[in-house]
Amino acid sequence: MTTIAALPLPTLLGERCLLRDFDPSDAAAIQRHADDEAVWRNLFEGFPRPYTMAHAREWCSGGSRNPAMGWVWCVDREGEAIGCIGLRPDAGWLRCNAEVGYWIGRAHWGRGIASEALAMVTQWVWFALPELTRLYAPIYTTNEASQRVAERCGYTLEALMRKSAIKAGRVIDRVQYAIYRPDDEASQG
Ligand SMILES: CC(C)(COP(=O)(O)OP(=O)(O)OC[C@H]1O[C@@H](n2cnc3c(N)ncnc32)[C@H](O)[C@@H]1OP(=O)(O)O)[C@@H](O)C(=O)NCCC(=O)NCCS
Repeated sequence: MTTIAALPLPTLLGERCLLRDFDPSDAAAIQRHADDEAVWRNLFEGFPRPYTMAHAREWCSGGSRNPAMGWVWCVDREGEAIGCIGLRPDAGWLRCNAEVGYWIGRAHWGRGIASEALAMVTQWVWFALPELTRLYAPIYTTNEASQRVAERCGYTLEALMRKSAIKAGRVIDRVQYAIYRPDDEASQG
């Protein structure tokens, strides 16, 4: 049986961006875009701050390919690495679920790039990963832009998860958005 983790990372081409594997040469651009309080503020607790060149080199030279993280793409805009989008399947009896996460460098916000990237990854999942039936995105309640991205891609609000995470020492509320495999494409894992 083919395990989904054994599939190679596909390159996905859109009108606004290209999703591809990271390369060591992306480190300087990633460090520049990631070392930003406005990016860090809405990401998980462990996202580095400051985001140094050492972090960027490690990430772009193989760190993003850690199998525990599932699939991780570099968001490429005209040859420049400007962000990241990832898909991490859950394990065991929850293996039909996967979490999506993304960030885009502030200089490129508001151009529909995150929306296109999430739409491409979502469509690729329905096409290539028949075991997955639900994709979910936990988003801070204060992060209206990310909620809008999820909505634009067909994700719907599943739940308000009050006091469900800690960021910078503060307990915060999150909402969970999700999308489901169209019924006629459902399969059993
Ligand atoms: C959230 C984020 C990924 C959006 O990236 P982006 O490429 O600018 O997103 P898009 O341009 O595709 O869409 C953004 C949408 O949010 C809307 N938006 C932006 N700021 C907003 C705000 N403060 N309040 C409400 N909506 C907002 C935009 O108008 C747009 O919607 P529209 O096209 O219907 O007008 C980007 O801001 C980011 O990386 N932020 C920091 C990290 C982060 O939050 N990651 C997501 C964690 S769940």
